[in-house]
Amino acid sequence: MLPNTDLKTALRALAKEKNAVILAHYYTEAAVQDVADFVGDSLALAQQAAKADADIILMCGVHFMAETCKILSPEAKVLIPDTAATCSLAESCPADDFAKFVAAHPNHKVISYVNTSAAVKAVTDVVVTSGNAREIVDSFPADQPLIFGPDKNLGAYINAITGREMLLWDGACHVHERFSLEKLIELKQQYPTAEVLVHPECRGAVRKMADVVGSTARLLKHTQESPCTTFLVVTESGILHQMQQSSPDKTFIPVPPDDPGCACNECQYMRLNTLQKAYNALLNESPEVTVPAHIAERAVRPIMRMLEISRKLGL
Ligand code: 13P
Ligand code: SF4
Repeated sequence: MLPNTDLKTALRALAKEKNAVILAHYYTEAAVQDVADFVGDSLALAQQAAKADADIILMCGVHFMAETCKILSPEAKVLIPDTAATCSLAESCPADDFAKFVAAHPNHKVISYVNTSAAVKAVTDVVVTSGNAREIVDSFPADQPLIFGPDKNLGAYINAITGREMLLWDGACHVHERFSLEKLIELKQQYPTAEVLVHPECRGAVRKMADVVGSTARLLKHTQESPCTTFLVVTESGILHQMQQSSPDKTFIPVPPDDPGCACNECQYMRLNTLQKAYNALLNESPEVTVPAHIAERAVRPIMRMLEISRKLGL
């Protein structure tokens, strides 16, 4: 096994040789973020996938992100470092059950969070991410009944800020649901001037403590623009790497989960993306992620609709 510095050099050389682009989500480990061509939130990663001009896309993220890459760039070979990198939120919404829920509410338009399988996207009118959900929901007439799935926390947040009463699917992310309100309150007492940055997948009680609620990209941008120098970060702790890199003089404190002994909250699926596995995937051109054609041709429409609305809104 090579040390990380050699692996990074080897992976970059392999990417060049194979005309591959390496995409990484903010929740992957720092070494993976550092080797990627592009690091971003779910919206930015989808935008990158749509314009990728590469023979291979190596998606260092989770399975639904690789599916989205394949749907948006069908000509490219899409690789993922570890096929076990799924997502508890996407899995809380089995496609068959969601399709029945949709069929039971025929007058509703269907909005799905990007954290869903391609099969769920195939029965969706428009996809959203945490970076554009509010604006996309607002783009529907006020009297249009809406279904929102699968994240009940993000859905409740969007209902609260838009005044909608969207029907919510009862799904959640196990990472964001387990942030400890008690520990956040303690940290806020310890650092009273710190700003609290919360991802909208968190529970409502935690979200109510926030100075800023937003996608990982929005939270990162806020840390760069705010005059504040200390931040309590209530999302997966991988994002701290970019925050610290772009604001080296500021202090970022990851808020812990409820579990005793854990100082920060990591997504075990995102963390399956090690540098070694990323290298192996590109070397062997495997594991490859594919999407059956009959699903891809229906799933591409709501994703393209999301990208089109986001483009018009400058998101
Ligand atoms: P964003 O990338 O939209 O901030 O969402 C975070 C997430 O949970 C991705 O799985
Ligand atoms: Fe899925 Fe939650 Fe992990 Fe994001 S943090 S990939 S929503 S399990």
